[in-house]
Amino acid sequence: MTQDEQKKAVGWGALAYIEPGSIVGVGTGSTVNHFIDALGSIKHDITGAVSSSVASTEKLTSLGIPTIDCNAVDELAVYVDGADEVNLHKQMIKGGGAALTREKIIAAVAKKFICIVDASKQVDVLGKFPLPVEVIPMARSFIARELIKLGGMPKYRQNVLTDNGNQIIDVYNLQIMDAIALENKINSIPGVVTVGLFANRVADIVLMADASRASKVRVIE
Ligand code: 5RP
Repeated sequence: MTQDEQKKAVGWGALAYIEPGSIVGVGTGSTVNHFIDALGSIKHDITGAVSSSVASTEKLTSLGIPTIDCNAVDELAVYVDGADEVNLHKQMIKGGGAALTREKIIAAVAKKFICIVDASKQVDVLGKFPLPVEVIPMARSFIARELIKLGGMPKYRQNVLTDNGNQIIDVYNLQIMDAIALENKINSIPGVVTVGLFANRVADIVLMADASRASKVRVIE
């Protein structure tokens, strides 16, 4: 299967977790775009979606799926999102699409986080994919210096503003052995909005495509 076929298989596979009448938490990215297409096919059976980005909102709207403000929702049964890397503990690096902060908020609100990934996203040790950090613009250089102290190589993601009006630093050269400690450390640097490490709140279920077998999806619980 091509990578996109794998993304499609897990995107449509996630439909099995959607409860009738529910409001669905929706992530961001090319894998989630397949999930949104799938959601479109059952749009009359759900109440709507809480979206993690302007891009996902636009796609949801174009398919006639109502989007609902996160503040208007007490609880979400399910949040479906992709990842840039996922390890055996279901900890993830996310934020390749710069939507990490809203994604982390919705993941926190949701009872169940379903992570949908193609096989290339599985890793033993997180960190080969540069770790995104959303930062308040005036703190960018200070935060970069602090990230160097933590052993990383920070690089400013040029010409990208997040949906919250902030900037992204990508941190290269990390081998993340204690993801919870690193998430807490980076989040405590003044000016950091959030880091794209999802270690305190891991996925509950990972749907991982099998690269060798058409539409085969592995469920990792
Ligand atoms: C966006 C994300 C995405 O989930 C992540 O980048 C994976 O994207 P894709 O499904 O396109 O591979 O965290 O901020």
